[in-house]
Amino acid sequence: MIPWTHLDSAHIPNNGGELKFMQRGDEFSIRLSGVRGELMNSRVFNSEKVLSELGCAHLTHTDKAHVLVGGLGMGYTLAAALKAVNSSALVTVAELIPEVVKWNQGPLGACAKNPLADPRTQVHIGDVKQLLVSNTPTFDAILLDVDNGPEGLTHADNNWIYSIEGLESIFTTLRPGGRLAVWSAGPDYLFTVRLKNAGFKVDTRIVRSRPGKGSKHTIFLAKKP
Ligand SMILES: C[S@@+](CC[C@H](N)C(=O)[O-])C[C@H]1O[C@@H](n2cnc3c(N)ncnc32)[C@H](O)[C@@H]1O
Repeated sequence: MIPWTHLDSAHIPNNGGELKFMQRGDEFSIRLSGVRGELMNSRVFNSEKVLSELGCAHLTHTDKAHVLVGGLGMGYTLAAALKAVNSSALVTVAELIPEVVKWNQGPLGACAKNPLADPRTQVHIGDVKQLLVSNTPTFDAILLDVDNGPEGLTHADNNWIYSIEGLESIFTTLRPGGRLAVWSAGPDYLFTVRLKNAGFKVDTRIVRSRPGKGSKHTIFLAKKP
């Protein structure tokens, strides 16, 4: 078996630990230091793709749709969002860790077919939260896969996103008819309640990690009326 090679490391802000970027043949892995394990593997991306398909399904014919993806990871959610919208769209991807963007501009890019090179992509290096606090309805879809579920994993500050304050702010940032889609490793009843309390109509979908097999992930699909 081919051994893993450690290609690079990156510090997570606010003492969040370290990300390790690993390669084994044509397979890539991004791991969290300590016992927190693998954040992403380049061979497992079905639910990351479906996150965009569900979150952007209403935008096929929308002129100048604006989609926000947070975070970049291995680029699968971004690539699927670009596929779901038309040529007039803008897709902003927010990524907290600059090295993750660099890895995607390098060897990782080919995995999701280089979505950063698409002229409709705009990169925001920084916390996605900075784009979720505007009082102006800006986005037609917000696709969030920054943690393992509605609880800060990579970054403790992410807990705000899933709080009622965060969700009300996201609601304001969405244009009428806009959708918020959140990736999660499993169900979370209280998160569904908070989404409803923030004004959303909520639907949850179970999606396998690989087409037709693998772990069962949850996608929260929240619609702004
Ligand atoms: C699980 S990965 C995303 C995988 C991605 N959906 C894909 O298709 O490859 C989570 C990403 O979110 C980033 N991240 C975590 N917290 C963030 C935040 N507050 N703002 C922006 N990016 C964040 C991490 O650095 C990591 O790149």
